[in-house]
Amino acid sequence: MRLYKKEGNTLQILSFPNDNIEKGDYLIIEDSRVNKKLITQVIDVQFANVPGLLEELLRDSTTEDCVYGEDFDPLKVSSHINHIQDAWMLLCKIRGTLENEKPSVNVSWLPSRSKSGIERFSITSLLAQIDNGRNLPIHIGETKEKSPFTINAHDLDGTLNIVTGKKGTGKSHLSKLLVLGLIDYGATVIVLDLNGEYTNLGFSQNGEKNVYHDKVHVLTPGANLKVSLAQLDLRVMLNILVHALHLPGASTREFRRIWQFLNQRRASTLRELGEAIKSWKCNQHVRDALFSRYNSLLNSGFFTDIATEAVTFEEFFGETRKGGALILNLQDVSSVDRQIVVEYTLGKLVELLGQWKIRAVFLFAEEAHLYLRETYWDDIVTRMRHFGVFTTFVTNQPDTIRENIYRQADNIFLLNFTNERDLETVSRAARVDSETVKSIAHDLPHHHCLVLGKTVKDFPMVVKVRAYDVQTMGQTRLFFTSRDYARAEPQLR
Ligand SMILES: Nc1ncnc2c1ncn2[C@@H]1O[C@H](COP(=O)(O)OP(=O)(O)OP(=O)(O)O)[C@@H](O)[C@H]1O
Ligand SMILES: [Mg+2]
Repeated sequence: MRLYKKEGNTLQILSFPNDNIEKGDYLIIEDSRVNKKLITQVIDVQFANVPGLLEELLRDSTTEDCVYGEDFDPLKVSSHINHIQDAWMLLCKIRGTLENEKPSVNVSWLPSRSKSGIERFSITSLLAQIDNGRNLPIHIGETKEKSPFTINAHDLDGTLNIVTGKKGTGKSHLSKLLVLGLIDYGATVIVLDLNGEYTNLGFSQNGEKNVYHDKVHVLTPGANLKVSLAQLDLRVMLNILVHALHLPGASTREFRRIWQFLNQRRASTLRELGEAIKSWKCNQHVRDALFSRYNSLLNSGFFTDIATEAVTFEEFFGETRKGGALILNLQDVSSVDRQIVVEYTLGKLVELLGQWKIRAVFLFAEEAHLYLRETYWDDIVTRMRHFGVFTTFVTNQPDTIRENIYRQADNIFLLNFTNERDLETVSRAARVDSETVKSIAHDLPHHHCLVLGKTVKDFPMVVKVRAYDVQTMGQTRLFFTSRDYARAEPQLR
């Protein structure tokens, strides 16, 4: 391999097929004059553009069919010509410098073109170099060299993460791996589970309970998750009414008065609230507006007046003190009820964190645009993060996540995308250049993931995500099973 050209932080390196280089591989360029090595990553492999090559190829293809006789090549140049025709140009991005075997981001120097040696730098060695004591390893999968790839749970602490990729590429699978990894180290995790996919994390594939069984708590709104009005803060209630049920301003003011009236009488129950709205002296339109919202609260089945039915999040968090996950099962919950439940949960979370009743939580949100209101997005990356809510967004539609979230994301786990628009959206992530994202993510095989950000110290790496023995329930239910397909006989010929 030879160094050819540098433009910005892109290097072009000449190579040949027998070097066996692929996209995503790391190369190290060693300049013997200085005690430094440049770390680069191959983001694209192209044919080398040699002058006169087109003419040579054309000449070859026109003579192939119609010229008979023996090749006369006394100087044996044809093998050299073939060699040149097959030459590759590797497009590489400069990622850092290895100085005294320590990686740094200083790339203000240039190695010699004539004297540098270039060789492959295995991901395993790179991981060993950037490893500053992976004391809380989460085993994600394996590198190209088949060695285990782990990330440090510390690098997920206090961070904002995104898991994204095309439909069915394994996003939820990877998220579950992260959830279980965090539980292992005693973290509290909340999953907003849109499809009820995380509910069986406590079971192995053969249906038996696994080691996580006592640590995974599934909360189904309306079934084992019902709350009483008495434990509800006025602020959270108003958020539910305004944001989930779209109560207008005038009615909100009236509701505030009703709530305070009930609180003074210590009568915060659903029944009393209904009675108070009915008998409250106010404009008829306001009463109607309040009553319709009251009915929505009632119909959600999420609130109860029966003391034995009501549960509190304090209890749940108590159970996860030594590590555990609360899976908020939002499957079969209507979109309005979903917003009520999420609004309540996040409100309660901030309240408990504010009172230091819990230390911090890792929040996993699948397809968050379906239940998270507009203003929460900014809240999550700024205010809530300081309170100790560390969010991971999981989505197959990257454009549903705002651009500022991408820019502030600390880690991105990127699975395959082929759509240009989706790639364009993800490539806005500030932690890596857009060419890397577009080129590598486009060709990622199934179950492979490009890891970007803090967990890999900004050295993007391709990883094959491992399988694990947990009921992941991610399969799409199909109509044509192989059994039916084998039996069927087409009638129409
Ligand atoms: N690394 C892997 N090893 C083995 N099986 C995997 C892996 N990744 C995903 N799967 C399996 O592939 C299927 C789809 O994965 P998953 O549900 O995680 O995809 P997804 O990207 O979340 O899909 P969707 O866009 O529908 O939410 C699941 O049955 C899952 O168990
Ligand atoms: Mg999924």
